[in-house]
Amino acid sequence: MKLSSIRLAFVLLAQLLAPVWSQNSTFHNPVLSGWHSDPSCIQHEGTFYCVISTFITFPGLPIYASKDLLQWKLIGHVWTRESQLPGYSWNTNGQQEGMFAATIRENKGIFYVICEYLGVSGKKPGVLFRTTNPYDETTWSNAVFFDAPKIDPDLFWDDDGKVYVATHSVVIQEFDLATGRTGPAINIWNGTGGVWPEGPHIYKKDGWYYLMIAEGGTATDHAVTIARAKKVTGPYTGYERNPILTNRKTQEFFQTVGHADLFQDTNGKWWGMCLATRSGPQYQSYPMGRETVLFPVTWNKDEWPILAPVRGVMSGWALPAPSREVPGTGPWNVDPDVYDFKSGQPIPRNLIYWRIPRDGAVTATDSGLQLVLARNNLQGAPNGNQNGATRAISFIARRQTHSLFTYSVDLTFAPTANNQEAGVTAFLTQQATIQLGVVQLNNQLTFRFATNGTNSSPTSKTQAVPTAWVGKPIRLQIQMSSINTYTLSAMLASDTKTKIAIGTGRGELLSGGSGSFVGTLVGVYATCNGNGSGLDCPSGTPNAHFQRWRYTGAGQFVSATATVPTVVDMAKSEV
Ligand SMILES: *[C@@H]1O[C@H](CO)[C@@H](O)[C@H](O)[C@H]1NC(C)=O
Ligand SMILES: *[C@@H]1O[C@H](CO)[C@@H](O)[C@H](O)[C@H]1NC(C)=O
Ligand SMILES: *[C@@H]1O[C@H](CO)[C@@H](O)[C@H](O)[C@H]1NC(C)=O
Ligand SMILES: *[C@@H]1O[C@H](CO)[C@@H](O)[C@H](O)[C@H]1NC(C)=O
Repeated sequence: MKLSSIRLAFVLLAQLLAPVWSQNSTFHNPVLSGWHSDPSCIQHEGTFYCVISTFITFPGLPIYASKDLLQWKLIGHVWTRESQLPGYSWNTNGQQEGMFAATIRENKGIFYVICEYLGVSGKKPGVLFRTTNPYDETTWSNAVFFDAPKIDPDLFWDDDGKVYVATHSVVIQEFDLATGRTGPAINIWNGTGGVWPEGPHIYKKDGWYYLMIAEGGTATDHAVTIARAKKVTGPYTGYERNPILTNRKTQEFFQTVGHADLFQDTNGKWWGMCLATRSGPQYQSYPMGRETVLFPVTWNKDEWPILAPVRGVMSGWALPAPSREVPGTGPWNVDPDVYDFKSGQPIPRNLIYWRIPRDGAVTATDSGLQLVLARNNLQGAPNGNQNGATRAISFIARRQTHSLFTYSVDLTFAPTANNQEAGVTAFLTQQATIQLGVVQLNNQLTFRFATNGTNSSPTSKTQAVPTAWVGKPIRLQIQMSSINTYTLSAMLASDTKTKIAIGTGRGELLSGGSGSFVGTLVGVYATCNGNGSGLDCPSGTPNAHFQRWRYTGAGQFVSATATVPTVVDMAKSEV
């Protein structure tokens, strides 16, 4: 028996016995690793559900479900159809606009997700979606639009049946779920003086209305504060011991702790989820951006809630027994990708786009995932004319969900003109990428490695593809084997001993800057780098095919120096 399986057995045994002994559990953060910001979570009939912010990525507003709070399954997305928000995605030019922080709530068997969409000039709508079956993502409704003066809407049902939406800086309005009509805005709290009092959630407990918010901004000053009132519209009194959760001004590895939501398990124990960044106080390299962490909450009658400080190794209430008995389809967040594409197959749910893709841009075929080359490259339109055209890039990717990982695909691509290119990228935004392409330059098949990123000048280097590789599938690989360095390599798919490392890029390139709200994705792209017209490459441009898509996590950092395999990784490592 390998050490990993002994540890796995121990962890599983300890968790199984925990409820029997009523002993506290230990677990590792983040529980939803990789870019998962602004979580909002509920428990309904023994299953936990979370929604997170996704900005312009599409499909957007993923719903994760879990029975045990540690293993999360991507059961669907709320925003899957252009027709739910006609025209919005394609008219959003910014990199960090789109779907801001959402709230998920359930009432009388209906699940609601409420959010605000930013970035379309002249419009700033609140959007409300609903379904009775979150396991079938096609059932999410079109948006009910409402006039949201501020971001981060919360939904709250009072005992008298009235529904309220609270938004940042904090205002509350009565809300009509059917029409989106809102009542007058009442300013109920400004927080404790930190910037951006946002992400409000209202809870009613023991006759008190509790208003919990985030303030201090979503970087290292981030914090959770709370106030309470006897009437939902106030007056609210802030807690004298605010903030109730923060890692500001600490040396902790987990920074930016804030934007929390609270819920109970089926034993009545309280828990919370919030966002955190694994950056240490230096706050320089954190390519996965804001991730979702779990913490226990002690909330006694008439008292203020006590939120356990966020760390990589946590202890708290007994956890529900480990279980993957979650209905519906979809990958588990930390599982590897093992995708061999076949014609007619749906695109795996954890693969996402930067805005809604053009029709036919990405298709599963027997030769692999087929990408039609776009005139725009990853950065936008290389010949100028960024005007709106940045939206049409040919790109599909998954979240980097581990500190250490290996990602690879086998590329089949035979360019017929100079500048036609297909490759892999670690991508934060269109202004922050580390990429390795196969491109025809001066009529020769060439590797081109390039970086564009935060606080650094763009770099680019080229080297000829070995003659013996021309016409054969080439495996392109992105690997992170230490916390800070992406290594991009190429090899013959049929002979991995031919592997050559082409370039490296540091984690800082993909941290903050143009992507301070988002987190790194790893995936593939295809472009003719500006040749052609409009959004199209010249007709006759060949497509690129990516087969054998693999992503495998190798470890999670829980502190600046310690990595742990997750429970799930340990299970996989036995295979
Ligand atoms: C919030 O701040 C504004 C501006 O200073 C002030 O007018 C308002 O009364 C404050 N609201 C509350 C609920 O304290
Ligand atoms: C168990 O966890 C809860 C929640 O964090 C905490 O309040 C309690 O003190 C812990 N009990 C023990 C024995 O550690
Ligand atoms: C542009 O496309 C044409 C037609 O495919 C090709 O002949 C030419 O080499 C391409 N030029 C560049 C700069 O990519
Ligand atoms: C990205 O890097 C490439 C290669 O060095 C460069 O040509 C391009 O201008 C850069 N783009 C941006 C948006 O910085």
